[in-house]
Amino acid sequence: MNVINATLFGYKFLNKSKIAFAEIDSEVLLGYVLKKPLPFLYLNQQAELSKRQKRKYLNLLNRRTKHEPVAYILGTKCFYQSEFLVNKSVLIPRPETELLIDEILKITDLKTKRYAIADLGTGCGNIAVSLAKVLPKSLILATDNSAKALILARKNATKYKLNNNVKFFQGSFLKPLLNHRLDILAANLPYLNNKEMTKVIKTDLSYEPRIALSGGADGLAYYRKLVAEIAQRDQKPKYIFFEIGSEQYIRLSKYISRLLPMYFIEAIKDYASIDRVVKLTKKGR
Ligand SMILES: C[S@@+](CC[C@H](N)C(=O)[O-])C[C@H]1O[C@@H](n2cnc3c(N)ncnc32)[C@H](O)[C@@H]1O
Repeated sequence: MNVINATLFGYKFLNKSKIAFAEIDSEVLLGYVLKKPLPFLYLNQQAELSKRQKRKYLNLLNRRTKHEPVAYILGTKCFYQSEFLVNKSVLIPRPETELLIDEILKITDLKTKRYAIADLGTGCGNIAVSLAKVLPKSLILATDNSAKALILARKNATKYKLNNNVKFFQGSFLKPLLNHRLDILAANLPYLNNKEMTKVIKTDLSYEPRIALSGGADGLAYYRKLVAEIAQRDQKPKYIFFEIGSEQYIRLSKYISRLLPMYFIEAIKDYASIDRVVKLTKKGR
């Protein structure tokens, strides 16, 4: 079997199992097996696969037909122009989450001052590490209540030599950071509602940790708890950023305005025009 036949076979095989991006997935998996970048496949269509490569490729295609995400098969995912190690203990970083970073980086004096930035529910550390890469003066305090997620997040910080700038803590919500001053708080906590969770079965999402997805009946259980904890905290961050799901902004912002009246609240839309990030700015900073 040569490269062109392998990609065509892979496409048909995945397409038959209703895998959405069958063409690109088959190419990416073949590139992974051959340890070559995608352009190699286009420029070497007649190159023959060895028996071992063919066997491995078929094995990966089979895994993909069962909806195992490509990122878990490869063990990596690109986020904010960096490659992150991922496994089944962490959510696969999503492109929407890059908006949260873009918004944080708009804070005017961020690059010149030493800010303490919290990343709650860090998962593989994608937000924390991406911020640390461009903000060498700041200290990033990343938390998660999953010990397995933190093992991976630490590996990602080590990969980019950022262990001095990113500190990891295990624990729930703000508990591990009670004694830390925080200038900025960012969180991408689980926010799928119960209805969305029922549709997870037999999709790629079924491979991702439930603890990273499910946000209770209306998806806002985690944010309500976090907002209540922030309200009880004496030292309040100047800025707070939450990633949320569609149709959650109005309900969440009403709750926030009751518990945190000292903040201006705004929604930032993603490329699909969905209110994706909630930004809170402390009044009279
Ligand atoms: C939606 S994932 C986000 C992962 C990553 N920050 C990202 O943006 O891709 C939510 C993360 O929150 C963590 N988590 C769930 N409950 C938590 C809690 N009570 N306190 C801290 N982290 C929690 C999960 O383990 C998971 O890693």
